[in-house]
Amino acid sequence: MTLQTIFILILLLVGITVILSFVDVMLGGSRQMLLTINKDTTLPASGGGTLLDALSQNKIFIPSACGGKGTCGHCKVKVDSGGGDIISLEENFLNRKEKEEGVRLACQVKVREDLHISMPEDLLEAKEYMAEVAALEELNYDTKFLRLKLLSPKTINFKPGQYVQILVPGYEEYRAYSIASPPSQKDMLEFVIRHIRKGLCTTFIHKALRVGDIIKFTGPYGDFYLQENSKRDKIFLSRNTGIAPIRSIVMHLKEQGMPTEARSYYSGRTKNDILLGEELSKIEEEHDNFKCYVVLSKPTPDDKWEGETGYITDTVPKFEESLDDKEYYLCGPPEMIDAAMAVLSEKGVPEEQIFFDKF
Ligand SMILES: Cc1cc2nc3c(=O)[nH]c(=O)nc-3n(C[C@H](O)[C@H](O)[C@H](O)COP(=O)(O)OP(=O)(O)OC[C@H]3O[C@@H](n4cnc5c(N)ncnc54)[C@H](O)[C@@H]3O)c2cc1C
Ligand code: FES
Repeated sequence: MTLQTIFILILLLVGITVILSFVDVMLGGSRQMLLTINKDTTLPASGGGTLLDALSQNKIFIPSACGGKGTCGHCKVKVDSGGGDIISLEENFLNRKEKEEGVRLACQVKVREDLHISMPEDLLEAKEYMAEVAALEELNYDTKFLRLKLLSPKTINFKPGQYVQILVPGYEEYRAYSIASPPSQKDMLEFVIRHIRKGLCTTFIHKALRVGDIIKFTGPYGDFYLQENSKRDKIFLSRNTGIAPIRSIVMHLKEQGMPTEARSYYSGRTKNDILLGEELSKIEEEHDNFKCYVVLSKPTPDDKWEGETGYITDTVPKFEESLDDKEYYLCGPPEMIDAAMAVLSEKGVPEEQIFFDKF
């Protein structure tokens, strides 16, 4: 290689480096930016990362059930300035009003300049917790009951029905799990967790986690919770692990002396899918104004089932004299929630009387 070729190569390399540095600066890479929240708090934000990362680096933990993949739509924040254009992946999760107001998915917004965002104050209250596994027991063939003793902070305040996000160690990914215990139990949280084949978090919980292990979670989150001030009768519809937040709400109502009429409709394929059934039956025995119905969609001959069968959405109108004057809490798979919403809407139940969590 001649001296001249070496000189040209060096010039080329310097040129490429200058161009890359320029592009990096234009995209905000590695520069320190400022993130202003609700016009009154300004924090540092590393350029080039996502808004979700910048928030979590500042110990602000917003819902992000898919771990930032852009598939859950939970990480919505209002970006007042500096967020760039909405990308196509966000379109699926934002309605027209949200787009007009500047709502974005924090996991898809890149920090390229100073950002101004607005968030509800209660979201800023979610914290990171460290907890010890106090119990991990089998409930049925694919579901475990997890009890976590809080270590730091030592207590948590939440509303019955809300959820937390458990961190999968080593992967730095979070998954959402509804709190199944009542809010009066501030230092010990309970969960009902179903194993999803090849699922990251549930395989960790079912196969690797042991009593005594320490794990982290953030929260509380969610707008699916008991409307404490409402005097309406409460109707709960759940399937499989959807019973978790319903258990928290029912246990809370029990502690309040069951102030209104309440009925739980709980479904599963077979008797084996019905989780923690005895607990609700016991509350039913103690309170005249609480009833629980179990509905099996595919009972086996071994179940010797003489109770309700078929779709939960057919069972509810059978036992409820009127539907439009009640308050509904729905939790379970999307198909169950969508079918229930269609029935309730057809029967004239206003949307503001229906609360749901799909998972
Ligand atoms: C608000 C909220 C509350 C939740 N509460 C609970 C709870 O109390 N108990 C509980 O067990 N789960 C709950 N979930 C679901 C939970 O967050 C996880 O999605 C689930 O445990 C799977 O996580 P994973 O990491 O094991 O699977 P992933 O690694 O996320 O998924 C692996 C694969 O399984 C598929 N998959 C994910 N979920 C399901 C499913 N339900 N059925 C079939 N396939 C699936 C995915 O599409 C993917 O292909 C809740 C979800 C939300 C949003
Ligand atoms: S974290 Fe799930 S869409 Fe952003």
